[in-house]
Amino acid sequence: MLRRTALAGALLVGVSIWQAPSAGAGYGPPLKDITHRYVGSAVTPAHLAERDYRAVLTREFDSVTPENEMKWGTLEATRGQYDWSGADELVRYAKKTRKTIRGHTLVWHSQLPSWVNDLSADELRTVLRQHITTVVSRFRGKVRAWDVVNEAFNEDGTRRNTVFQQKLGDGYIADAFRWARQADPSAKLYINDYNIEGVNPKSTATYDLVRSLRQQGVPIDGVGIQAHLSIQYGFPAGYRDNLRRFGALRMDIAITEADVRMPLPADSAKLATQAQYFKQLWDGCHATWRCVEFTTWGFTDRHSWVPDVFPGEGDACLFDANMRPKPAYRAINS
Ligand code: XIL
Repeated sequence: MLRRTALAGALLVGVSIWQAPSAGAGYGPPLKDITHRYVGSAVTPAHLAERDYRAVLTREFDSVTPENEMKWGTLEATRGQYDWSGADELVRYAKKTRKTIRGHTLVWHSQLPSWVNDLSADELRTVLRQHITTVVSRFRGKVRAWDVVNEAFNEDGTRRNTVFQQKLGDGYIADAFRWARQADPSAKLYINDYNIEGVNPKSTATYDLVRSLRQQGVPIDGVGIQAHLSIQYGFPAGYRDNLRRFGALRMDIAITEADVRMPLPADSAKLATQAQYFKQLWDGCHATWRCVEFTTWGFTDRHSWVPDVFPGEGDACLFDANMRPKPAYRAINS
């Protein structure tokens, strides 16, 4: 008993050592407590071993998206051999901390196992159905919303020429939604894409597709807007109008992967612009009741996909590499 108390005491001291400085370092009330929307982050489960990473995630957010662990290439790199370890680790964390999960993603041309490219059309259809059914069933009742189809359009609004589009034709999207619904009737099903924040040919193509899917009775519930922004390109024109038009289709809207990158090194002017962009994204989501989720693609500059993919750019998150809240966090949280 004595030992247990001592241990509890040590833990408490440990927690307060960490929390005391952070409270004075720009943290506000947890983001998840200042809104009725889900507030999420992409998470790499391996990082949960970092104590400060886990603590900030647990404190601020109430939804998690596996950054890579539910992608086809991670789950089934070799045909027929599933590796659920990363996904399961995130599900365990979510259960323990009472977070909801955004599943990401079922049908995507990227991070696709190479063997999928070698199938005939008939085989591909069977395998795609199997993949969706297997993955969605496994997390049935645990995943709140799925990004069923990811990045299906080109910038000009034509269909991206993926292996699914080539071999299965336009109908693969409707099929994917039907198969996902069968496997978990309670999960919300989304189409997800980038560069569809504002009104432009790509977002209009997404709008037209969603409207037509709805008319045909295809089970689609929402549109996921990735929102990977850069301060170099200006804030997307028509963001609020775009959200409104999707809402008018009686679609849920989620901001699914928000980050705002900048040319490095950062300075206070760039951080101020970033703060403004995050705030506009956040406020626009809150301007329509149909926008039900605000998820960022990672929360700390310590772990972000940006520097790997956009050389010379970075610092795209709400918290810096030392977990200190940045001006963008304070802009949202004021
Ligand atoms: C990114 C991950 O963050 C990286 O770790 C990985 O190497 C590549 O994919 N749009 C998406 C996400 O839908 O799945 C991508 O995630 C970022 C762009």
